[in-house]
Amino acid sequence: DIFGAERKNSSGINIDIRSQWQPFSAQINTFMTRQWRGGAIINGELVSEGKSLEIRSPYQQRTLVGQVCWTDEIGVKKAIDSAHSAFAQWNSTSVEARALCLEKMADLMESNTPELIALCHLEAGKIIQDSIDEIREAVDFCRYYATQARTHFADALVMPGPTGESNELYLQGRGVFACISPWNFPLAIFIGQVAAALVAGNTVIAKPAEQTTLIASRAVELLHQAGIPKDVLHLLAGEGSVVGNAITQDERIAGVAFTGSTDTALRINRSLANRTGAIAPLIAETGGQNAMIVDSTALPEQVIKDVVQSAFKSAGQRCSALRVLYLQEDVAPRMLELLKGAMAELTLGDPSLHETDIGPVIDTNAQSMLRNHIEKMRQDATLIYETAIPAIFGSECFIAPVAFKIDSMAQLESENFGPVLHVVTYKASELDQVIEEINNSGYGLTLGIHTRNETTANYIDRHVRIGNVYINRNQIGATVGVQPFGGQGLSGTGPKAGGPRYLFRFATERTRTINT
Ligand code: NAD
Ligand code: ALA
Repeated sequence: DIFGAERKNSSGINIDIRSQWQPFSAQINTFMTRQWRGGAIINGELVSEGKSLEIRSPYQQRTLVGQVCWTDEIGVKKAIDSAHSAFAQWNSTSVEARALCLEKMADLMESNTPELIALCHLEAGKIIQDSIDEIREAVDFCRYYATQARTHFADALVMPGPTGESNELYLQGRGVFACISPWNFPLAIFIGQVAAALVAGNTVIAKPAEQTTLIASRAVELLHQAGIPKDVLHLLAGEGSVVGNAITQDERIAGVAFTGSTDTALRINRSLANRTGAIAPLIAETGGQNAMIVDSTALPEQVIKDVVQSAFKSAGQRCSALRVLYLQEDVAPRMLELLKGAMAELTLGDPSLHETDIGPVIDTNAQSMLRNHIEKMRQDATLIYETAIPAIFGSECFIAPVAFKIDSMAQLESENFGPVLHVVTYKASELDQVIEEINNSGYGLTLGIHTRNETTANYIDRHVRIGNVYINRNQIGATVGVQPFGGQGLSGTGPKAGGPRYLFRFATERTRTINT
């Protein structure tokens, strides 16, 4: 099983993920035929006036999953008015009470796992393993940020008082925080941003991706159930160019946490710079042109397993995914043979079936952008291998995993967000050029290194400008509190999500000096 049904649990004992999933399968099925309703939620009310849309599954376009209602500029104003009024009260609520809400939310997600898995299959096309990981990560974010808040926000730091005065330094919320999230981690990233902003004392306007409105609606219902007051958290489902834009132009927005494409991050940055009102921080986590460097000392079977996972897991729809594989020339022919063999084993299909390795891409737009890129590669590059798509597939948004040999990373104009791998070969003497090429892309999210030579690994690690470097393993699936995640340059501003310094950026630091 190339995607690793076997995992180590926290005691290092191998467990079969199937045994974790099996008890849920009957319950998941009961949710697979439900018709869902979702959309903007303002003051706890599901908005019914606005643009109404049908949600169709990326796996089977003819399957109607549910109905959503999007809001507009009027909804944005109403939600920000409410969140603005609610701020003082929420900010003075004890850190312990806020942390307990996150922990209750973690419990609720665990007890609603079958429903959330069904939603991940239906709306986001996520396979079983990705759906389980998604919920696990959202739970981890809640518990981790609750703990971090208790550590850093509950008590003031006592500063020196050399003149006899008493000095304290403490953290508080900033105001109304906007959390704008992508569709590829519709629960984990959505919850991660919102949980951090709330526990730091902010009220929140959450803007989910258009494609995953239902999952976000359900998450907000659960957060309200977990004790987050209805005027403290609002969901502004709608179009990015309308709703997103109106949010970032409102001068009462005290900060923005954004995860999505680099282009949108730059647009938000300009919008915040051009408005009147306070200077608001932007936390941006964006795309990547992620590479892996493999030298001749690397273990071929391990390399190929990690390449296939990094490039094709989640249908390549991870910001961390491997896009450009650098293979040392001496070992490239053998590695490429192994790669073809592994790609031939991948199974595309129904995301709710256990045997499926690769589900659909998110929608027909994504599919057609990827198809255009693949057609361009057929002209400009050499095809290495393309996994077969079953002949019965018709109206589904599938893209078959495919690998091309190209001359250099510079041949790629932008991030291609799907299961497309590009391979470049290099001579041992060209390692510095490889590093330069990676740095010149301007992105800096993840990098994989495969070598048994510690000096080479250290040399590469020291010279690249990359947020998350992974040596002799795959380069996806950062774990909360273990591999804090986030890039640099065009890939983001930091601080790293799931890391010990993330919450600080959602807060303002204050000092209090008392002349005793
Ligand atoms: P996107 O930029 O199209 O959309 C992200 C969010 O921004 C959506 O909610 C969208 O509605 C909103 N938006 C769009 N225009 C806006 C505007 N003018 N003002 C405010 N908000 C606006 O990205 P996507 O297609 O949803 O997600 C895929 C991208 O996200 C990829 O580039 C991927 O690499 C990146 N990503 C990065 C990370 C990370 O942690 N670095 C994680 C996941 C995804
Ligand atoms: N945090 C996600 C990963 O590491 C994006 O794959």
